[in-house]
Amino acid sequence: MNILLLGSGGREHALAWKIAQSSKVSKLYIAPGNGGTASVGENVAIAADDFDAIGKFAIEKKVDMIVVGPEDPLVKGIYDYFQNDDKLKSIPVIGPSKEGAQLEGSKDFAKAFMIRHNIPTARYKSFVSETIEEGCKFLETLEAPYVLKADGLAAGKGVLIISDLEEAKRELKNMLDGKFGNASSTVVIEEFLSGIECSVFVLSDGENYKILPVAKDYKRVGEGDTGLNTGGMGSVSPVPFADETFMKKVEERIVIPTIKGLKDENICYKGFIFLGLINVKNEPMVIEYNVRMGDPETEAVMLRIKSDLVDLFEGVANGDLDSKTLIEDERAAVTVMLVSGGYPEAYEKGKVITGLEGIKDSIAFHAGTKLSDGKLLTNGGRVIAVSSYGKDKEEALKQSFENAQKINFEKKYFRSDIGRDLK
Ligand code: AMP
Ligand code: GLY
Repeated sequence: MNILLLGSGGREHALAWKIAQSSKVSKLYIAPGNGGTASVGENVAIAADDFDAIGKFAIEKKVDMIVVGPEDPLVKGIYDYFQNDDKLKSIPVIGPSKEGAQLEGSKDFAKAFMIRHNIPTARYKSFVSETIEEGCKFLETLEAPYVLKADGLAAGKGVLIISDLEEAKRELKNMLDGKFGNASSTVVIEEFLSGIECSVFVLSDGENYKILPVAKDYKRVGEGDTGLNTGGMGSVSPVPFADETFMKKVEERIVIPTIKGLKDENICYKGFIFLGLINVKNEPMVIEYNVRMGDPETEAVMLRIKSDLVDLFEGVANGDLDSKTLIEDERAAVTVMLVSGGYPEAYEKGKVITGLEGIKDSIAFHAGTKLSDGKLLTNGGRVIAVSSYGKDKEEALKQSFENAQKINFEKKYFRSDIGRDLK
């Protein structure tokens, strides 16, 4: 099979690494890919949302399957683009339809979907400019802190958590006035939930599903979960509190109603569903849906899947995922993200990366790198994810931290407390 994977981050390098291990794959292309994906497949200079170029390439190179890494092409409708073209519709796209991608593309849509299907989530209401007064009144009925969310995609920045009521009202106005552009022309206000978060990934063919290994990511830039939110500074899998009892609740109260809800509403969904969950006194509640794998969760989760991922994707495409087996690796896996100094605010690019050849017993997934004249350079805020196995997370973390020291670039930074909050 020839596979085309879309995306260019650490998540895509980890997906490419896993896909390339499949005996079913003859050729793996990554568009646009990065310095790391080039080592497991062939990078193609096409943007992940340039549908015309992707379609043309797929026909030219006899691509048999498209795997979508990031949310952007999904929310823009790449699944429908292929379905609506006679020459492309026989090529399966692993990812939801445009309508299904609204689970991530619109928080208002996602919340209403959860309410319709009785899926546990925080109490909420949505507001637009015309209803700002009601929005302020709704804030008064809630207790601090106040959670304000831009309805649309806002590059991970659209959620504000504010402790002061008056400030929350001011920010509601700012958001409705275009603080996040069009994305915040509708604002979801919801009740604050207190607990510890985890990420559950589900692969579905629209009818059947497999729950992948659970992970926890570390979003804040500073140790002890302080400082600004980032794309993610590291992750661990498994997650001790997501035990059998907790996961049974997740499956019964969230996974099954989600898949059934999509089916009942005739929303075509053949891809990953990412449940951002919060554990509120041992009860799982949904903070958000995403329609893709998480980053940097994927850089740990892929290590814990023993089965052939492409075989599972075939199950998704053919609608017989129930006939496939998902075997988990019993070992723990972690990833520690090396980032550019200054990230998530301004940082410099183009720094030479050295020391990768000295890495032992870890995998260095490239997140933001590029090859230039034979040199590997930094090309993003998140640069390299150092992933390791261990008999437990402590052993895996030791390995990742040791190797994180060996890789160097100017102003390298990483959190040395990944996984420390978990027992
Ligand atoms: P989201 O983009 O919806 O995942 O929100 C980003 C982050 O904000 C989440 O990962 C949580 O840490 C936090 N968050 C969002 N909604 C809530 C909520 N209702 N209660 C507490 N924290 C929240
Ligand atoms: N790690 C969280 C995300 O990918 O959205």
